[in-house]
Amino acid sequence: MKPTFHPPLNVDWASGVLCGAPLICKTTSLGDLAGVFADQESWRQHDPSQTVYSVEMFDSPSGEGELYVGVTHLNPGRVGDEYFMTRGHFHARREQGEVYFGLRGEGLLLLQDEQGQTRLERVLPGSIHIIPGFTAHRLINTGDAVLSALAVWPSQAGHDYAALANGFALKVTPETVKLMAKEVQNG
Ligand code: F6R
Ligand code: MN
Repeated sequence: MKPTFHPPLNVDWASGVLCGAPLICKTTSLGDLAGVFADQESWRQHDPSQTVYSVEMFDSPSGEGELYVGVTHLNPGRVGDEYFMTRGHFHARREQGEVYFGLRGEGLLLLQDEQGQTRLERVLPGSIHIIPGFTAHRLINTGDAVLSALAVWPSQAGHDYAALANGFALKVTPETVKLMAKEVQNG
C-alpha cells in the first residue's frame, strides 16, 4: 500500500513557538487568579489585566488514547514575595500523568501528591519532568525572563482546579530558591 506523507508539526525549541496546525490559545491574567497568591493585598494593587501566562496548544483530537501538545509561556514577576506561577491542577482523571520539557527561562515545577506532600524540580532549557498520575503540578517562574515549557498529556486527562481551591501546601519565594541552591550545593 502507498504511504501518505504529512508535513510534521513543529516547535521552535528556543522560543516555544508552535506551528504546522491550528492552535488553541488561552491567556491568564492577574485578575483571573483571585485567591491564588498568598498576599491578597499586593494582588489587589496590581493591574488585573497584566498577563501572567499563556498556553498555546494544537487543536488535536480529544478521544480516549489521544495526546495533547502545548506550550506554556509564563512571564516573570511577583505578587508580594511570591513568584508568578500557573494556577496548578490535578488531572480530573487522577491516574493520568504528563511530561513537561523546559525550553527557555528558569523556574520550578511544584509537584504535590494527594496527601499534600510537595517536591520541587528545577525547570531549565532541556529539563524533562515526568509527572506521575495522582500528582498536582504548577509552573513557577523564578527568573527575570519568560519561562516556556512544552507539555504532552492525555487528551482525556481533564483538569481539576477545585481540589486545590485552598492552594498548594508550599509557597515559593526567593527564600525557597536560596534554600534549594544551598541543598544542591551540599549534595
Ligand atoms: C495540561 C498542563 C498544562 C497547563 C498549563 C497552565 O494538563 O498541565 O498545559 O494547563 O501550564 O496551567 P493551569 O492549567 O494550571 O492554569
Ligand atoms: Mn496537567
